[in-house]
Amino acid sequence: MSIIEKAASRIDHTRAAAPAPAVVEYDGQTIVLEQHAPLADLPAVAAAPVARVEVPGVATPTVAAARAEQPRKTAPKPGARKVDLDLAHMRAAGMVTAASGRTSLLEDFRVIKRPLLKQAFTKGSDARPNNLIMITSSLPGEGKTYCAINLAMSIAMELDHTVLLVDADVARPSVLRTLGLPAQRGLMDILVDDSLDLADVMLRTNVDTLSILPAGTSTPRATELLASSTMSSLVNEIANRYPDRVVIFDSPPLLLTSESRVLASHMGQIVMVVEAQATTQHAVTEALRQLEGCSNINLIYNKARDIPGIEETYDYHYG
Ligand SMILES: Nc1ncnc2c1ncn2[C@@H]1O[C@H](COP(=O)(O)OP(=O)(O)OP(=O)(O)O)[C@@H](O)[C@H]1O
Ligand SMILES: [Mg+2]
Repeated sequence: MSIIEKAASRIDHTRAAAPAPAVVEYDGQTIVLEQHAPLADLPAVAAAPVARVEVPGVATPTVAAARAEQPRKTAPKPGARKVDLDLAHMRAAGMVTAASGRTSLLEDFRVIKRPLLKQAFTKGSDARPNNLIMITSSLPGEGKTYCAINLAMSIAMELDHTVLLVDADVARPSVLRTLGLPAQRGLMDILVDDSLDLADVMLRTNVDTLSILPAGTSTPRATELLASSTMSSLVNEIANRYPDRVVIFDSPPLLLTSESRVLASHMGQIVMVVEAQATTQHAVTEALRQLEGCSNINLIYNKARDIPGIEETYDYHYG
């Protein structure tokens, strides 16, 4: 039995079994979801890698300090602007940084990134390069942005890779806000303005191996722009310009927006965040249905707390 199945069986005991309507507030709208059953067996999902991220508590004692921010292998683009991430603040907020020490969060993201990195540099289809990785989930608040930033920071600590973190949650961008940075031009601006290119809006950071592409100016045409041939060319450029680059896309919830589904059509790998004791089986199944045609789908079981009866130290599984 996989960790997610064990967790699910435990959760089933702690939640009412009867399905009930779920009401979600999103962008000022009240959306009633058809059914809201507790997370139970996830048959279609169990074959995908499953990782578990605990809610960080007190950091475990430092065994060996993580190495300092790595020098970048790929030279930064000269035109790109630079922003400073407040690494001390990020550390204090429980996020992955190179100087965090050996925390369980750092270990969780080490486990999560390995198979993604392995797959990232195998040949995917030309339309869906494997180094493009989208973080999504079924509903708001399940931890997409949190996982996208931590995964990006964790991969940026690798010796052999650089990372571009793209805020593709174009309706409700939150990567810059979460990092304590002001909103800036970004992805949407490149797609609507032919005179702009990537270097005009991409941000280098004080983590030399990490760059950020902000979401940019919000537009009601976001879905169409993401489906456009301009977006396909941009994605192609992002994926292929640097051979060592991994691109992490933060994205909107699959069940409430059409942008995520369109974005997924460009991606070589999808990471779906499942919130422990919150995301229902119905929501996961529906979200997976939206991802038909995507072959590399991984799950992160997020915000998991210790569940009695589950002994695994690192909850990463191949089904
Ligand atoms: N593993 C975790 N441990 C602690 N806090 C977490 C964890 N995952 C997410 N959070 C917190 O939960 C909240 C929601 O997370 P986040 O913003 O990443 O969700 P989201 O899926 O991106 O939401 P949205 O769909 O609204 O963009 C944030 O306050 C975040 O810091
Ligand atoms: Mg988010």
